[in-house]
Amino acid sequence: MLRNNRPAASAANLPRPKAALTLGFTLLVTLAACALLLQAGDSPPDRVPSNVAWTPETIAAASSGDAFRGLLLAKRCGHCHGDEGFSARASTPNLAGLNKLAIWKQLEDFRTQKRLSHAMDPIAASLSPRDEADVVAYFSKLPVFTDPQDNRAFPQSRPDQGHAAIATHLVSFGDGERGIPPCQACHGPVAYRPGVPSLMTQNTDYVLIQLEAFANGTRTNDINEPMRTIAALLTEEERKALAEYYGSGLGLQSGSSTSPK
Ligand code: HEC
Ligand code: HEC
Repeated sequence: MLRNNRPAASAANLPRPKAALTLGFTLLVTLAACALLLQAGDSPPDRVPSNVAWTPETIAAASSGDAFRGLLLAKRCGHCHGDEGFSARASTPNLAGLNKLAIWKQLEDFRTQKRLSHAMDPIAASLSPRDEADVVAYFSKLPVFTDPQDNRAFPQSRPDQGHAAIATHLVSFGDGERGIPPCQACHGPVAYRPGVPSLMTQNTDYVLIQLEAFANGTRTNDINEPMRTIAALLTEEERKALAEYYGSGLGLQSGSSTSPK
C-alpha cells in the first residue's frame, strides 16, 4: 500500500520542491543584485562628465553677472573669439548670443578640466566666480546680426544640395531607425534644454571638431552622454553635412522665429 501510495504522494508534492527551488533562485538573484547595487554605490563612477548640475543655485550663479564689467573682462577674449563675439577663425567658437547657462557650464568645465583645451583651461582657471558670471552676461547679450565691418568667419559657404538635405533632415527629424533624435529638440529653434549651446551661428570647423571629439571620446563633458552617443551614431559625411549646415547660417533661416537667449 505504502509503496503504491508513494508515487501518488510524490507526484502530488512535485510542484513544491519546484516552487521552493524557484523561490530560492529568485532570492539568490535578488540578493546578488542588491550586493551589486551596493557595491556600485560604494565606488565612484569611472568619470563624472561635469561638476555642473542644474539646480536653482547654479542657475542663479550663471545668471547673476554684470554685463558691463563683463565687457571689460572680454578684452582678454576678443583676440580669439572676436570683439563682437564672432571669431575670425572657423575653428574657434562664436560666443555672441549663446545661452547664459551654456557659456557658464563650458567655462566651469574648462576650469575643472572636465573639458580639456590648451587654449581655454588656463583662461577659465584665471577667472573668479564673479568674473565668470560677468563675461557670461556680456557674451550672452551680444547680438547675432551680421556686421560687414567685422572680420568674422561666420557665415561660411553653403553646402551642396545633397549635404544640405542630409543635414536638414537630421536637424528636423533625426533618424528613428538608428535612434538619433532631431538636433533641434535640444539645440533649438524648436526646443532648448538648459546648458545646451545654440548652433545657429556656430562655425563649420568648430562644429565638426566638436562632433568628432564627442564621437571619439576626447570630449566627455556632456551630462548623461547625449552627444557622445549621437555623434558616434552619425557617419563622417553626416557630421560634415551638419557642420556645414550650421556654419553657413542655414540653421538661422529655419529658426528665425525663435532666437537663442
Ligand atoms: C588663445 C585663444 C583664446 C582666448 C584668449 C580665449 N578663448 Fe575661449 N576658446 C578658444 C578655443 C580654441 C576654444 C575651443 C576649444 C575646443 O576646441 O574645445 C574656446 C572655447 C570657449 C568656450 C566654449 C564655447 C562653446 O560653445 O562650447 C567658451 C565659453 C569660451 N571659449 C570663453 C572664453 C572667454 C570668456 C574668454 C576670455 C576670458 C576666452 N574664451 C578666451 C580660444 C580662446
Ligand atoms: C538630447 C539632447 C541633444 C540632442 C538631440 C542633440 N544634442 Fe548636441 N548637445 C547636447 C548637449 C546637452 C550639449 C552640451 C554638452 C555639454 O554640456 O558640454 C550638446 C553639445 C553639442 C555640440 C557642441 C557645441 C558647443 O558649442 O560646444 C555640438 C556641435 C552638437 N551638440 C551638435 C549636435 C547635432 C549636430 C545634433 C543632431 C544630430 C545634436 N547635437 C543633437 C544635447 C543634444
